[in-house]
Amino acid sequence: MASLFEARWQELDLLDAGAGDGALSAALVRGLCVSRHKPTRISVTACELDETLIESLHATLHGCQQQCERAGIQFSATVLNEDFIAAAVPMVRDELFMSRKPRFNAAIVNPPYRKIRSDSSTRLLLRSAGIETGNLYAGFVALIAKLLAERGELVAITPRSFCNGPYFKPFRTDFLETMSLRRLHVFESRSAAFSRDDVLQENIIVHAVKSAPKPEHVIISSSSGASGSSVTEREVAYREVVSPEDADQFIHLAEGDAQDSARAIMGRLSASLPELGLFVSTGRVVDFRAKEFLRQQPERDTAPLIYPCHFNGGFVHWPKEKARKPNAIVSNEQTRELLVPAGVYVLVKRFTSKEERKRIVACIYDSHRIHAPLVGFENHLNYFHVNGQGLTMNLAKGLAAFLNSSVVDVYFRQFNGHTQVNATDLRSLNFPTKAELEKLGRRIANPGIPQEELDALVEEELF
Ligand SMILES: C[S@@+](CC[C@H](N)C(=O)[O-])C[C@H]1O[C@@H](n2cnc3c(N)ncnc32)[C@H](O)[C@@H]1O
Repeated sequence: MASLFEARWQELDLLDAGAGDGALSAALVRGLCVSRHKPTRISVTACELDETLIESLHATLHGCQQQCERAGIQFSATVLNEDFIAAAVPMVRDELFMSRKPRFNAAIVNPPYRKIRSDSSTRLLLRSAGIETGNLYAGFVALIAKLLAERGELVAITPRSFCNGPYFKPFRTDFLETMSLRRLHVFESRSAAFSRDDVLQENIIVHAVKSAPKPEHVIISSSSGASGSSVTEREVAYREVVSPEDADQFIHLAEGDAQDSARAIMGRLSASLPELGLFVSTGRVVDFRAKEFLRQQPERDTAPLIYPCHFNGGFVHWPKEKARKPNAIVSNEQTRELLVPAGVYVLVKRFTSKEERKRIVACIYDSHRIHAPLVGFENHLNYFHVNGQGLTMNLAKGLAAFLNSSVVDVYFRQFNGHTQVNATDLRSLNFPTKAELEKLGRRIANPGIPQEELDALVEEELF
C-alpha cells in the first residue's frame, strides 16, 4: 500500500485513520527515508480509538522519528486517541470558518468495518457532513476524501462491497466524483476476518487522487492475498471500469482475459429486463415476520413456501422431507399479499455459500410440477416475473440457463465481490433478446444440466 503513492512530496502531511499500532504509516515513512526523492518534512496524524493500542502507536511513531532523523527529514506526529468520525466531522463541516484548515496531502488507511445503525449518533454525525452511508469503512473513506487537499492521494484497503449495489450508491457516486481512481488491487480474503456470517468478503486496495482529471486508464491488479503471492497487473480503460453511462456507477474489476471476454460478450447483448417485459423482485415472505403462518408440511389451507433449500438442479423440488425450513405458509387474507399466483418463475438465490462454485444460482419454479394456485417465495430468493405473473416455460428455461452460464458468473464477479446477489445487480445486466432466450429454452430440458454442457449450449445459441 505504501508503495502505491505517486507524488514526490517536499512536505508530507499524512493522515492514518484507525491507525492501530501505526503499521501503515510506518511502512510509508520507512520507504520515504530510503527514497531518492526524500521529503524535507513529514507530519503524521494518527487517529486510533482503542486506548490499549496507543502505547504501541506512540512507539511506532517514535521509531519513525528516529529513522527520519537519520535520513535528515524533519518529523512530527500527532496521536488522537478519539473516534475518527467525531473528530473529523467538525473539521469537514466547519472547514470554511476554521482559521487553519487541516490539510492532508496523503492518507493511508485500513478502516474498521462495521454496520452503522440508521438511528445511531455516528450516522447522524456523518449525515451532518453530507455523508450518507450504512458502513463505518465508507464513512471513514468519505471523510478522508473531504479532508484531503487538492491532488491529495488516498490509499485504502476496504471490503469490495462498495463497488456495486444500492446501499453504497451515495458513497460510490460521491467518491468517484471527488476522487480520480488510479489503481485497484483485488484479493480474496479467505479468512473473511470481518464477517460474522461466514460469507465471502473480498477486499480491495484503492489508490485515488483528489480532484484530478479522470485518467485514460486504471491499473487493475490482483493477487491471492497469501504472503509472497504473485501479482498480476493490467491497464484497463477508465470507462471500462466505471461507465459514464451507468447511473449506478458500478466499479468493474476485470482481472484477466476471461473477464475481458465475458465483459465483451455481455456488452454485445442488447436487451434490458424491461425490454423483455420482465421484472425481478425479492421474495416477499420474510419468515421471521410471518412465523405464525408457517407450517412444516403442507396442509389443506396452505401454499408452498419456497426457500433456496428447495433448489434441486434446474427445478424446484417441493415439498422437502426433513427440511429444516418450513415447506408451507397458510394461505388466507392476511398472507395473500405475500403470495404470487401459480406459474413458471425463475428463482435466483440471494446468498450463496463460499463453497458454491457459482454466485448466480438460478432454478425454475414450475406450477405444472407443483400443483397449487398460489406460492410464497421466501426473502432469501429473487424471482423473475412478468408483472406479477409467471413466464412461458421456454423463456424461463432460456433465462435460467443464461443466468447459470459461466459467462454471466465471470462477468457478475467483476462488479460484485461478495456472495449477496441483489435484485438491482440482476436488473443491471444486459440480456439476450426474448426470441434468443426462447430459442435457447427450447433446446434445454433442464437448466440444471452439467456446467460444461450448459455453457456449450449457451455459447452456441447466444454468443
Ligand atoms: C482494521 S484495523 C487497522 C489497523 C491498522 N491501520 C493496520 O492496518 O494495521 C482498524 C482500526 O481502527 C480502529 N477503530 C475502530 N473504530 C474507530 C473509530 N471510530 N475511530 C478511530 N479508530 C477506530 C480499531 O481499533 C482498529 O485499530
